[in-house]
Amino acid sequence: MVTTNRSRVVVVGTGQVGSAVASSIVLQGLTNELVLINHNPGKARGLAMDLADGSEFLGRFVSIRHGDWDDCSQADIIIITAGPRPVEGRNRLDGLMAAVDIVTPMLDRIRESGFDGILIMVSNPVDVLSWYAWKRTGLPRAQVIGSGTALDTSRMKTIIGEVTGLDPRTVSGYVIGEHGDSQFIPWSTVSFVGKPFARFLADNPGRYPGVSLNGIENATRRRGDEIKNRRGGTSYGIASTVSGLVKTILWDERRVIPVSTLIDGEYEYGERDVFLSLPIGLDGNGANEFTDLHLTAEEMERFHHCAEVVRSHCALIADRL
Ligand SMILES: NC(=O)c1ccc[n+]([C@@H]2O[C@H](COP(=O)([O-])OP(=O)(O)OC[C@H]3O[C@@H](n4cnc5c(N)ncnc54)[C@H](O)[C@@H]3O)[C@@H](O)[C@H]2O)c1
Repeated sequence: MVTTNRSRVVVVGTGQVGSAVASSIVLQGLTNELVLINHNPGKARGLAMDLADGSEFLGRFVSIRHGDWDDCSQADIIIITAGPRPVEGRNRLDGLMAAVDIVTPMLDRIRESGFDGILIMVSNPVDVLSWYAWKRTGLPRAQVIGSGTALDTSRMKTIIGEVTGLDPRTVSGYVIGEHGDSQFIPWSTVSFVGKPFARFLADNPGRYPGVSLNGIENATRRRGDEIKNRRGGTSYGIASTVSGLVKTILWDERRVIPVSTLIDGEYEYGERDVFLSLPIGLDGNGANEFTDLHLTAEEMERFHHCAEVVRSHCALIADRL
């Protein structure tokens, strides 16, 4: 008798991001079953058909179909990607009210379904919406995460890889805080080929002209806007990131990834009731076990600024709870 569980992932929203996330999950064969939900069911059905048409050439069979909210009750992971289409020149927080209008009925249907898996918020502004989703669904804190600065961290590693010509996976470290303009890189956490990256740059004067820590941080922060300006939106980077989270959770890998999660009095961070990204252990039970980063005083100040930004936007939607 087979004793392994069948896994089910539900993707809500089948626009650019939802389609790319679904595709990444299917191409990697991460789940037994993938269910797509869209307010226009025809679009979800079309995407399911399109993705399923490559089955013959994939490494692992994934059962793909469109579905509805009843499918959420037996889901292991639900990923919410529905939201107002990102508009050039507007930041992620600008679309908050429209985003809340879109996700509120979804979160209610998810709660009513009895879902007890891991909810991954991707829609922006992701930190504010993750907090809202946690409150609105009543799920335990470990089971609600936002993709947060996992993408920004990957962007930072990609940029360092491009600058040095080495594999980005050589970099260890994090972008933390808000997935937005106040995000920052605590350079005290970033190491490269066995030493702090700041030391690596200092040890190689003249080898990387024009490269600075500030420059890398700004390029990381601006990268999403730059992609949006060039191709109208971002989708593949976030898709790889979210499917990485799915793999870590479903396969119980216990990777440490900075995702947006409830910060409520942990270690020296001194924050409560706010969702921000810090590196946290991810596994089949969700997000547990923070790392104490021992931020410098300046980094801590920047972390508190992120909390202020996110909290002030949560206050704007508190009456929607
Ligand atoms: N967290 C991240 O790092 C990250 C990265 C990229 C995009 N995003 C966010 O992902 C979201 C989707 O972006 P996209 O480029 O796929 O946009 P898109 O316009 O291509 O897709 C939006 C999706 O939302 C659905 N939708 C829109 N209005 C709806 C409504 N009233 N009810 C139900 N569904 C509705 C649409 O049907 C579509 O499936 C946005 O919030 C965007 O900011 C997040």
